[in-house]
Amino acid sequence: MYSQGINVKINTEKLEPLEKKTSVLCVFCYEGESKLLGIGKTNQKLDNAIQETIKETKAKEKTLEFVHTHNLIPAQKILIVGLGKKNKITTEILRNTAGLITKKIRSLGILDFSLVLPKDLPMKIEYAVNALVEGANLSMYSFDQFKKEKISNKEPNMTILVLENVIKSITKSLIISNGVKFTRDVANLPPNECTPAKLGEIAKKLANQNKMKCTVFSKNEIKSKGLGGVTAVGQGSKNEPRFIILEYRNGKKEQKPTLLVGKAVTFDTGGISLKPGEKMDEMKFDKCGGCTVLGIMKAISELRLPINVVAIIPSVENMPSGDAFRPGDIIKLFNGKTAEILNTDAEGRLILADGLAYGIKHYQPSTVMDFATLTGACIVALGTNVAGIVSNNTKLVSKIKTASAITSEEVWELPINDDYMDMIKSKVADIRNIGMGRAAGTITAAAFLANSVGNVPWVHFDIAGTAWIQPSTKNKSYNSHGATGFGVRLVVNHLMNQK
Ligand code: BES
Ligand code: ZN
Ligand code: ZN
Repeated sequence: MYSQGINVKINTEKLEPLEKKTSVLCVFCYEGESKLLGIGKTNQKLDNAIQETIKETKAKEKTLEFVHTHNLIPAQKILIVGLGKKNKITTEILRNTAGLITKKIRSLGILDFSLVLPKDLPMKIEYAVNALVEGANLSMYSFDQFKKEKISNKEPNMTILVLENVIKSITKSLIISNGVKFTRDVANLPPNECTPAKLGEIAKKLANQNKMKCTVFSKNEIKSKGLGGVTAVGQGSKNEPRFIILEYRNGKKEQKPTLLVGKAVTFDTGGISLKPGEKMDEMKFDKCGGCTVLGIMKAISELRLPINVVAIIPSVENMPSGDAFRPGDIIKLFNGKTAEILNTDAEGRLILADGLAYGIKHYQPSTVMDFATLTGACIVALGTNVAGIVSNNTKLVSKIKTASAITSEEVWELPINDDYMDMIKSKVADIRNIGMGRAAGTITAAAFLANSVGNVPWVHFDIAGTAWIQPSTKNKSYNSHGATGFGVRLVVNHLMNQK
């Protein structure tokens, strides 16, 4: 049903590039150099044409130029791909470049192309392959489910020409990037289509396909279990809340699971503290945290990672109505604390607090990660290309930063301490659901969550700026209008290193 856009079929061959019969032979070149990477001399006439082209583009980053081969080699065309300066090359440049190549070739209606992977790139070959596969596959994503006119669904075939056997890396990267596409697909669904109940169905279907256990609590079950935050936020909408639990178990029985919690507000109007109308439509993306968790679960279950992971996705629609919760209400959270509601638009922390406390109580995780489009303040602080993280564990943060460097999904740590915890104390309840004015909005939201976490190693991702493309988002060839799937690659990479 899902997986929008098209998948790129990717395989690998150990073949001398100049002997490869293909529509387009893509070859890299560093800026300021005249040598194509990974292929030797062709013949005088073709070499001259290649040199002419390199002189023109200077092989600057993002330059793509075709050279006709006039049957002098089996490949019909050579595509000279500029990588920019040799000392500046990164996996992110390769990822971006692969997206540009794939888009360019497809726009010409060409369906098969080959890419020469030089063996002397200054990075592990596996990382280079991962970046190229991700860039190519993700760049072909588009959300056209609701359009009559679809882009052609013919899959392009990419062959990576490389001396080493990299088929495992290719398969792995295809699985991970398909997880990202799945996250985008669900996140891009409009709010009339994707209600909390629908999200529960999507999770169940994923679980059935990928041999996971899935439990979905109804409105009544949510209430009777004491999930007071989810109950309060969900009570204003006709679309009833759901509390979704997915379990993936493929590690040792006695191994404590990792817990993932994702905010899934299928639409955030702000509730009684109604948001202004401008750009309110974008609040269909307020379910992105939950969708990130779904994409991660899809990928790790297809990779069959030898670990145990539990995912919890509290899902609600935040609506104003005669039944809605209000400013002034005092509610009781699953963690036993009472919370004074001062703004119904600060709803994400209420449902996440329940998700975290429930997951920690019932599954005793070794580590907890949560994902949420939690605060506009995070966009003010860090913009739309970097996610905010808040944690109680420096070792965990350092692992997250390692994974982040590999996947180029940037994060920046914000501090948390008792002074921030004091900023959400209430005069009439244990805590309040907003801080003091606008001060440290992202951190006071995290401080609210910290009340559910205690000492379990935990990292909170505020993806308000990075979950979908906004006007200030940096252009990347492998992203397209709408949801980005930010965090899926990062967390799967992190989990691949856990045993
Ligand atoms: N979902 C929003 C946060 C958000 C806003 C994400 C814009 C991405 C773009 C969240 O529920 C919210 O409204 N938070 C309030 C908190 C405030 C009332 C303390 C905010 O950020 O303004
Ligand atoms: Zn809100
Ligand atoms: Zn929200």
